[in-house]
Amino acid sequence: STKPKICYRPIRPSDLETLEHIHTKLFPIRESEIVDLLGYDSAKSDQTLVYILTLGVVDTYRKLGIASSLIKEVIKYASSISTCRAVYLHVISYNNPAIFLYKKMSFKCIRRLQGFYLINGQHYDSYLFMYYVMGD
Ligand code: ACO
Repeated sequence: STKPKICYRPIRPSDLETLEHIHTKLFPIRESEIVDLLGYDSAKSDQTLVYILTLGVVDTYRKLGIASSLIKEVIKYASSISTCRAVYLHVISYNNPAIFLYKKMSFKCIRRLQGFYLINGQHYDSYLFMYYVMGD
């Protein structure tokens, strides 16, 4: 089978409904939980970090380099912010495809967080991955 040609463009307001639908299917996470995950006060520091909350590709389009391309864009964006020190994210400890992806993109695994995720009453560990952006 031939690989499809992938084109990238900025998202538009009219994409929102489709994106919300895809996101809900890949990440059954509630908004209140998102706020908890982001619960640190970045305003207290003059250094900033970029956080990737969720990253997902519709399964028929996987293994085509889409996630890698999106991460490269985030790194480019973070590098354009002079106060930004790093891009970081959490990944559940058993998600090997994602862990391979972040390692391949030169993210460093900083620590394992015990019971970081609570899914259907079960606690799961997460890894914290960081990509350090060159300060200028
Ligand atoms: N098994 C092993 N390694 C994999 C796999 C896999 N199934 N899929 C991707 N990788 C790794 C490989 O190292 C791959 O490099 P290679 O092709 O040279 O071997 C590298 O990732 C890059 O692959 P991409 O094609 O760029 O990744 P893709 O577009 O397929 O997206 C993703 C990867 C996002 C993990 C996708 O499988 C997905 O959406 N999974 C479900 C949702 C998910 O788990 N998201 C990540 C959660 S963590 C978070 O959101 C912060």
